[in-house]
Amino acid sequence: MIEISNLSYSIAGQQILDGINTHLQRNQITALIGPNGAGKSTLLGAIGRQVDINTGQIKIDGEDLQNITPQDQARLMAIVAQHLHVGSRIRVVDLLGFGRWPHAKGRLGPQDHFIIQSALAQFDLTDLENRFLDELSGGQRQRAFLAMAHAQDADWLLLDEPLNNLDLKHGRSLMAHLRQMVSEKSKSVVVVLHDLNFTLAWADQIVAMRDGQVVFAGPTTTVATSEALSDLYQTPIELLNLNGHFFAQYHR
Ligand SMILES: Nc1ncnc2c1ncn2[C@@H]1O[C@H](COP(=O)(O)OP(=O)(O)O)[C@@H](O)[C@H]1O
Ligand SMILES: [Mg+2]
Repeated sequence: MIEISNLSYSIAGQQILDGINTHLQRNQITALIGPNGAGKSTLLGAIGRQVDINTGQIKIDGEDLQNITPQDQARLMAIVAQHLHVGSRIRVVDLLGFGRWPHAKGRLGPQDHFIIQSALAQFDLTDLENRFLDELSGGQRQRAFLAMAHAQDADWLLLDEPLNNLDLKHGRSLMAHLRQMVSEKSKSVVVVLHDLNFTLAWADQIVAMRDGQVVFAGPTTTVATSEALSDLYQTPIELLNLNGHFFAQYHR
């Protein structure tokens, strides 16, 4: 479990995270949702230690994040950020190789190459393995970073808007893949999602944020109500029940 206590972060006099208390459960898909500027990416960055928190504490499986070495952290969590910084002259297959470094101890072995190849296949990238990243479409590049995180084989996967740029097929395939990672490999997933319908279809838990605070959190089936979501996004959202599945209508 990731436990976040009294977490605050401000930069240039602006309060970006404001007293966050919440927890992220193991072996679940948790969707981090909320309007633009809510602080979702900053919170994910704080968990990944890409953002230095001002006050508060983050514990992962009972251990203060501050006490975990970078090497252990890389085995514990894989992060795919919202804005991917692309080293232009890196080939896809080499990017996935970076994901294996926490395990490979300096040199990739047969097991690493096997995992890289299966991650390429899993993310539909086998034909593109020798392409440079700047020769890929936005969606293909997104998939390459997701495949790298997959190859890292960490307990926790932290993904910031991974559906950005993905077409319908690859979006569904990613979410089905995350579900499989949770149910078959005991992974834990925290994912920033903008599409409420993907959230309703796949998330076990929701943490909803606005203005640097958690507005509500809990199991999707309990907390995802029309009222709560409309209030969160400050726009009318209807939930429609179709054969037992809920869909959000906010398009018109
Ligand atoms: N480096 C920064 N300097 C100043 N403000 C920032 C910085 N990074 C993010 N912010 C601000 O913090 C708020 C939260 O940003 P972010 O965590 O990216 O939100 P979200 O991912 O929910 O859209 C926004 O108002 C954003 O403009
Ligand atoms: Mg963001």
